[in-house]
Amino acid sequence: MSLEEIAKKMCAKGRGILAADESTGTMEKRLKSVGIESTEKTRLNFRETLFQSKAMKEFIGGVILFDETLRQKSSNGISIPDLISKNNSIPGIKVDKGAKLLAGSNEEKITEGLDGLRERLMEYNKLGAKFTKWRAVYSIGKNHPSTQCIKSNAHALARYAALVQEADMVPIVEPEVLMDGDHDINTCYKVTTNVLNECYNELELHKVDLKGTVLKPNMILPGSECKKKSNKEEIAKMTLECLKKNVPSMVPGIAFLSGGQTEIEASRNLNQINLINDTNFLITFSYGRALQQSALKTWSKDTKNVSKVQEVFNHRAKMNGLSSKGAWSENLEKEIAA
Ligand code: 13P
Repeated sequence: MSLEEIAKKMCAKGRGILAADESTGTMEKRLKSVGIESTEKTRLNFRETLFQSKAMKEFIGGVILFDETLRQKSSNGISIPDLISKNNSIPGIKVDKGAKLLAGSNEEKITEGLDGLRERLMEYNKLGAKFTKWRAVYSIGKNHPSTQCIKSNAHALARYAALVQEADMVPIVEPEVLMDGDHDINTCYKVTTNVLNECYNELELHKVDLKGTVLKPNMILPGSECKKKSNKEEIAKMTLECLKKNVPSMVPGIAFLSGGQTEIEASRNLNQINLINDTNFLITFSYGRALQQSALKTWSKDTKNVSKVQEVFNHRAKMNGLSSKGAWSENLEKEIAA
């Protein structure tokens, strides 16, 4: 398959991406929050329960894994990437080394991981990864994101993406403008515009073939502490407008992160965006928390009750699959209760 075909399959209508690439530290936090000890085995158990679910074949076009999981074997002996491929989904890998304090700025972050990346990519490819992810983060505050932060992260994202295409994989480019803060939706729109513009300037400079990439952006939302809430119509309109103005039309797929929205908010907003989508972009989800939260809670109550956990995950994946086609409705959420 060409890179463009892989990108399109990851984001195909009715399907999206499961972001199960939490680092060991983040996974520890998630497991601790539901009272489960984080060990190599518990991390694998939970993730494998999702990867074995019925939802994978129908609604999950790709799974982003963490280094540890890419190397693990499922309980029936096959490797995790093979299990995902067998379920008609595409395995991918997070390759950045996390966001660290940006020197010269007190509070902003730069994503690290370029050193030795070419060699790591060759290994990941051999282990079965067909795509990769790199996440840059930008916080909104009085004096940030600074030009320094926007430029340095865009540069790193572009160098990453160029190396990934050289290794014959699809780079997911993830510039995440964080929801934290009391800024309004217009500020999020402006900051995301600046961030996306700089990213595409750098991607072009580094000769990245945009047809073989997927963008993973934030939706345009008011800050989580903002007093003025926005409805789904406003969020969808501003998000689509921002993408139309700042993302080159050659990009085949756009898969949103959930970024702290609740499961229902993330499905509702994605659905609304697709209802008014008049572009050729395949617009879908690449959710972590908004796909796994309820399943994780259910699992923590009885880790042996695989079918119940899978039922909860199947429902969430189905709802988001419908949202990627603009076919979701609040009523369908009741299905799980029935
Ligand atoms: P959330 O959907 O939980 O924001 O995670 C997506 C992701 O992969 C962040 O890098």
